Amino acid sequence: MSDALRLVDITEDQLEAVRQIRMAAFGPMGARDRDEWLKFAAKFVADGRYLGVADGDDIVAAARICAFHQWWGGRRVPMAGVAGVVVSPEYRGRGVGSLLMRAVLRRSVENSFPLTALYPATTVIYRHLGYEFGGGRYRFSFPAADLRTLGGKEVELRRAGPDDAQLFLDIVGRLHATRRSSGPLVWPVDEVAAWLAAEDNFAFAADDGFVVYNWSGEDLSVDELIAGSEQTARALWATVGSGSSVATSVHAHISPGDPVHLLAGQEADKKAEVQRWMLRLLDAQAAIAARGFAPGAVLEADLRVEDPDVPENAGDWHLSVADGSGRLTRTQSGGEAVRLGPRGLAGLYAGTPLSVLRTAGLASGGSTAADATIDTAFAGSTPYMLDYF
Ligand SMILES: CC(C)(COP(=O)(O)OP(=O)(O)OC[C@H]1O[C@@H](n2cnc3c(N)ncnc32)[C@H](O)[C@@H]1OP(=O)(O)O)[C@@H](O)C(=O)NCCC(=O)NCCS
Repeated sequence: MSDALRLVDITEDQLEAVRQIRMAAFGPMGARDRDEWLKFAAKFVADGRYLGVADGDDIVAAARICAFHQWWGGRRVPMAGVAGVVVSPEYRGRGVGSLLMRAVLRRSVENSFPLTALYPATTVIYRHLGYEFGGGRYRFSFPAADLRTLGGKEVELRRAGPDDAQLFLDIVGRLHATRRSSGPLVWPVDEVAAWLAAEDNFAFAADDGFVVYNWSGEDLSVDELIAGSEQTARALWATVGSGSSVATSVHAHISPGDPVHLLAGQEADKKAEVQRWMLRLLDAQAAIAARGFAPGAVLEADLRVEDPDVPENAGDWHLSVADGSGRLTRTQSGGEAVRLGPRGLAGLYAGTPLSVLRTAGLASGGSTAADATIDTAFAGSTPYMLDYF
C-alpha cells in the first residue's frame, strides 16, 4: 500500500470523485440520478458520516454511515448502517477497503452506535472485520387472485398520506414490541412522510394497521403491510389483491414469520428471495443492555470475547438475563466461559444457536450442556429487514 494513502472525511467538492468511483463499482448513473445522489450524499458529508481514503489529493475509496435504529427483541437499538463501500478499481486488493472499513468501525464507535450492519456484495472483507450474517431481507410472492378473496370487508380502510407518518410509526412500534421483532429499521418521521407522499405509492390505513404498495412492472409490490388483528390483515391483503384483474402476482417484503403465510392459500409454488445482511457489535455492553430478550428466560453465563478491531468489546464478561432484559458486566474468571470472536458474538446476538456457531468454528469453550439456556435467552423471531440501504 502506498505511504501517501490517508483517511479523510469526504468534503462536498470531493463528492463528484466519489460518484465516479461508485459508477465504476455499481454501474452508470443518469443525469437526474446524479443530482439526487449529490444532494443525498451531501447530508452524510454535513454529518461527518462520509469517510474516504485519499492518495495525495485524489479520493480512491469511500463509504458512508447511515444513522439507523433497528428493532432487536422488540426494542429499538441504534445501528450504524454501512453503505456505498467503494474502492477505485486500480486500488482494489491492496488493503484499501480494509483500511477504510476500520475507520468506519472506529467512527461508528465514537458516535456511540452499539451495532453496525450492512448488505455485503462480498462477505470476505467484512468477515475479516468481525461482521457475520445477522438476518435477511425476504421477498415472498403471492397470487393476487388468492389475496383478493381473503375477506375483511367489514374493516374500514381509508387512503393515507404524509400526515399519517407518525400514526404509521406508532402502529409499527406497537406491533414490533408485541411480536418482539428483530431486524427492521425505524425510519425518521420525515422520511416516512416522504414515502407516503410519493404518488407511485398507494397507502391505506385501518385503526390497527396499514399497507403501502406500488406497481412493479405488471405485478404489485408491497413495501410494508402491518396488521394488529386478523380482520385487518385480511382487509389489507385483500385490498392489494383487488388488483388481480391486471396484476398476476403480489410481491411483498415481509418477515418469514408474518401471519400472511398462515392466511394465504397459494404461496407454496411461488419462489421466495433473500438478501442476507451482516451484523457486528461495536459496544457489546450497550448492545446487550438495549435489546429485548425472551421474557421467561433466566441466564447467568460467562463469555470471553476476542475482538482485535474493537478492543473495548474484548475480555471476560458475565452475562445476566432476566425479565426480558440483559446485562454484561466485567468479570475475572473466564475458565468455563464460552469463547467468541466478533463474528460469534454477532451470530449469538442475532439468535444463531450455539451449536451452529460451534460447528462453524465461531464459538468454543463453556459447557455445551449450558448452550440451550443461552440459546433460549437470545431466541426470538427470525431477524429480517424490509429495506435495502
Ligand atoms: C469490495 C471492495 C470494497 C473491497 O475493497 P479492497 O480494497 O479490494 O479490499 P481489501 O484489499 O482490503 O481486501 C480485504 C479482503 O477482502 C477480499 N476481497 C476483496 N474483494 C473481494 C471480492 N470481490 N471477492 C472476494 N474477496 C474479496 C480480499 O481478498 C481480502 O481478503 P484476504 O486478505 O483474505 O485476501 C472493492 O473490491 C470494491 O470497491 N468493489 C466494488 C464495489 C463493491 O462490491 N462494494 C462492496 C459493497 S458491500
